[in-house]
Amino acid sequence: MSNVVIVGVQWGDEGKGKFVDLLAQEIDYVVRFQGGNNAGHTVIVDGKKAALHLVPSGILHEGKICLIGNGVVLDPVVFVEELDTLIGQGVDVSPNRLKISSKTHLIMPYHKVLDKARENKLEKGQKIGTTGRGIGPCYEDKVGRVGVRASDLADPDLLKAKIAAALKEKNVLFTALYGIDALAVDAVFDEVMAVAPRIIPHLTDVSSELEQAWNEGKSVLFEGAQGIHLDIDHGTYPFVTSSNTVSGNAAAGSGVGPNKLDRIIGILKAYTTRVGEGPFPTELNDATGELLRTSGGEFGVTTGRPRRCGWQDIPVLRESARLNGLTDVALTKLDVLSGFDTIQICVAYEYKGKRMDYPPQEQGALDLVSPVYESMPGWKEDITACKTWDELPEAARAYVQRLEQLSGVPVSMVSVGPDRNQTIFR
Ligand code: GDP
Ligand code: IMO
Ligand code: MG
Repeated sequence: MSNVVIVGVQWGDEGKGKFVDLLAQEIDYVVRFQGGNNAGHTVIVDGKKAALHLVPSGILHEGKICLIGNGVVLDPVVFVEELDTLIGQGVDVSPNRLKISSKTHLIMPYHKVLDKARENKLEKGQKIGTTGRGIGPCYEDKVGRVGVRASDLADPDLLKAKIAAALKEKNVLFTALYGIDALAVDAVFDEVMAVAPRIIPHLTDVSSELEQAWNEGKSVLFEGAQGIHLDIDHGTYPFVTSSNTVSGNAAAGSGVGPNKLDRIIGILKAYTTRVGEGPFPTELNDATGELLRTSGGEFGVTTGRPRRCGWQDIPVLRESARLNGLTDVALTKLDVLSGFDTIQICVAYEYKGKRMDYPPQEQGALDLVSPVYESMPGWKEDITACKTWDELPEAARAYVQRLEQLSGVPVSMVSVGPDRNQTIFR
């Protein structure tokens, strides 16, 4: 198989973890290239569930090499907790198969404190609804050229100097602006150094590892986190995460040339969900939304928050196709739509008296659009045991085909349940 990028094309939680795990069967290396433990990727194998936040979802396949790229922000304490959980489940997470770029930035205790303090202070309507994991503040320090990188764990003097410099500024914010206690340099240093010996053996040069892999004829899967409409540039700013989630960042976030990205698969949920604040044109604040939430088990893997639910949004999908260069789409959770009399698809928006096929680009504009819906007949059958395209009810096939027509992107795989084997390849 050639190299593959997997990205979420909505607001996250589309089922990326399932497809990374599934496609990893045919792949040698799996690389995470952005985001941090704001991600929650659920993988179910033979009814057993694994929730992964930092470790690539390929880890459950024996013999696959998993890499964490420079574009990721890594919480060292959470990473070690995740290692221990996986070890407890009998998964091999030894340093020769799970490696971290020495350039990966570390989420420090003060990033988490700042993330939460800021969110608490914001008024309703301004809150982002972050996961509180320190993601934004860590990326800020990276871009501000004062971040801590994974390789600093092996250089205690440099690490301590960076922590002291960071706290000089952050402690002023904590005490003067947010009214919380200052953090002590030694306490932060000790907390991080306590886990350093567990991380240092995993450090590597991911870019060179990948070059070596390709020299040996291996294939690579790039695992995205979040979704395109949470992208720092192209998402519903400011209600976004702090990294580029688009497929192009697979190259920058792991240190490879963009010509290595062959197939770009967008993971698309059969309906739409969103966690946290921000515009959501097709959101259903009614019994139908509640039904999607309960039937789809739409509660966050990372924070447990109920996910907001609504119908499929084609303008959002069209824009995702454009931003990512999608070659094909894997449609997930089609089984959750079983039982509806009719299913709605938002085919365009009305905005300022005009019909729009793509989302308007000005900040806040997505709050002002009205979805234009098309109705399709639903189906009543349970489809979770369907193994082939032809076994799907006609109405379900028609729904998938309509999504293809409206978006211009082929649906190559259809998921009818969380397990690896509940997948139809077309
Ligand atoms: P990710 O963040 O994109 O990896 O997605 P999450 O793991 O946060 O959320 C997707 C959820 O849907 C997980 O609980 C999956 O086990 C589950 N899931 C994935 N595909 C399907 C499917 O086709 N049908 C159903 N019912 N659940 C699915
Ligand atoms: P996966 O990889 C869904 C959302 C948060 C919040 C916004 C900013 O599982 O699809 P952050 O903590 O990143 O600064 O929060 O982004 N968010 C996600 N929503 N799935 C995710 O990841 C998310 N990661 C961040 O809810 O609205
Ligand atoms: Mg998730």
